[in-house]
Amino acid sequence: MTALPFKEYVKVEGWEFVEPEEYLKAHSETLTPEFWLEVAQDLDWFVKPTRALEGDPPFYKWFTDGKLNMSYLTLDRHVKKGRKNKVALYWLGEDGTERVLTYYEYYRLVNRLAYAFQNKWGLKKGDRVAIYMPMIPELPAVMLALARLGVIFSVVFSGFSANALADRIKDSGARYLITADGYYRRGKKILLEENVRKATEMAPVESILVFERLKGVWNFREGDVSGEDFIRDVPLNTYVEPIPVESEHTLFILYTSGTTGKPKGIVHDTGGYAVLLHATLNWVFDAREDDVFWCAADVGWITGHSYIVFGPFMEGLTSVMYEGVPNWPDPGIWWSVVERYGVTIFYTSPTAIRLLMRYPDEYVEKYDLSTLRVLHSVGEPINPEAWWWYFEKVGKRRCPVGSTWWMTETGGVMISHTPGWKLVPLKPGTNGYPIPGVKAAVVKPDGSEASPGERGYLVLTRPWPGMLMTVWGDDERYIKTYWEKFPGRFYTGDYAIMDEDGYIWVLGRADEVMNVAGHRLGTYEIESAIVEHEAVSEAAVVGVPDEVKGEVPVAFVVLKEGYEPSEGLKKEIKDTVREILSPIAVPKEVVFVSKLPKTRSGKIMRRLLRAVFLGKPLGDVTTLEDEASVEEVKKAYEHLKGELG
Ligand code: WT7
Repeated sequence: MTALPFKEYVKVEGWEFVEPEEYLKAHSETLTPEFWLEVAQDLDWFVKPTRALEGDPPFYKWFTDGKLNMSYLTLDRHVKKGRKNKVALYWLGEDGTERVLTYYEYYRLVNRLAYAFQNKWGLKKGDRVAIYMPMIPELPAVMLALARLGVIFSVVFSGFSANALADRIKDSGARYLITADGYYRRGKKILLEENVRKATEMAPVESILVFERLKGVWNFREGDVSGEDFIRDVPLNTYVEPIPVESEHTLFILYTSGTTGKPKGIVHDTGGYAVLLHATLNWVFDAREDDVFWCAADVGWITGHSYIVFGPFMEGLTSVMYEGVPNWPDPGIWWSVVERYGVTIFYTSPTAIRLLMRYPDEYVEKYDLSTLRVLHSVGEPINPEAWWWYFEKVGKRRCPVGSTWWMTETGGVMISHTPGWKLVPLKPGTNGYPIPGVKAAVVKPDGSEASPGERGYLVLTRPWPGMLMTVWGDDERYIKTYWEKFPGRFYTGDYAIMDEDGYIWVLGRADEVMNVAGHRLGTYEIESAIVEHEAVSEAAVVGVPDEVKGEVPVAFVVLKEGYEPSEGLKKEIKDTVREILSPIAVPKEVVFVSKLPKTRSGKIMRRLLRAVFLGKPLGDVTTLEDEASVEEVKKAYEHLKGELG
């Protein structure tokens, strides 16, 4: 393992720093449910909670006697309290189209949509709706309109395939689908209708609402309605009462990859989630009234839910949404967006940073980035080199730069530097300390704590607001995945190191889940897609390091009798994955082998495949694969090496 800069302390001029001891001392006083109950009082509840934490572990419930509404917190509150004409969203299309929406404009749009959902579709609290939309202003609007009625929504990333969409519609029991005609990507129009038609053939819905971003490309049929028609006859000043929901009422379901073929529907509550977002916006991002907040993720992922839509809107900030990729039409485009809107807080992924740092510095130097104040990254470990580039070239050494660790299941940031609370010296690449109210540990397989510097599993040792409630329709899986490995503690699935100062460094996934450009993909999911190809008998997928994306999938494929390896077949296999899952999941390489190395119990030795592919020595085989003898592993290794030359 490469040495991590455990002892490199970076301070930023103009920011007040505290020593780790001070942080940890103050932090130790926050580790009670009552601490969170106090934070919760900051929110505008309809009924303020007096109870902090209840439930039957691991089914925890936060703020059970509180009542609130997310649409109210993000809109009505601001319209009533002095932010009526403040910009809520700057939206920029890849083609240069710009839309600026104030809080009042959003409020009106959301009310009209809520009215139509209620009166035209008959939606009511607890119903489910699937959303398959690209990055357009109507996406947050429909999320907030559904939340206004207590309707549970499930956003499906618009880059997913028809199959992935159909699975999610079925699993969540969504009655309706909300989509758009398409979007721009690298100058091309990407159309969504074909995927939607295929998906709704497999998983029928009562009606499809289509927002027209591109215009004139959707073939409207019986059962479809355009966004414009849907609210055309709903007056501009329509008011729909935001329904007070219980704190534990499900706000949304968001599907994420696990170690089995079937994605998990992560269920988030309303009250706990709202409190965590409010807290992290302040502690982690140091949000202030005139901040312009740009989280450059897609709303289809949890990062976008929490830090494009709900978080910044709850705090009444101005949020930025940009449709396009970082390097088209040129690699200066994102920095031009920072200049254009005077972005003060910027949040992106290490993948994007590594991509952009490969281009000449002039692309970032050309733009005025002096408004930037706080920078963070998320989604995967940030390597020190990328951290330095972000700190020096983007932040000009003026902004604290952090790597916020969290996951779909946690709802919001868990481990981070906290410039808005107490700021400890930065270290290039670390995640930092757990935020107030959150406790983490790095443990060995037997559950005891690892020593400083020793790699172990990252666990969260206390429940926290914003945590997932369960896996949709599968309480058993919720328990098994997160609470069984280390009873009483939440298992994250990540490897991490705690250094001597107590800083946490998350290293990557410990389970059979990959992290491709910050997107979680289960190896099993990709394998299941590959075996759909008629020529394939068996497949094993592993993640291998990639300079830009962090990790990419490589597939080892055993063909059926009668099929010969060929370049054509490789391409077909890749296309199958693109079709069934998503372009993100397409293997970088397809390697044909005559058999897959397996343990006696039939488990594929993925780490061995990875070693062979990377031309690495097998190394220590005693811990290489569960349930396999050293001999077995070595034999399989030699066989594979022989096969691949
Ligand atoms: C996995 C969760 C929540 C944001 C987007 C990803 C990895 C996330 C970091 C970080 C190292 C990180 C972990 C985690 N991860 N942030 N700052 N440093 N690793 O959400 O799709 O649920 O993936 O992303 O491996 O388990 P997600």
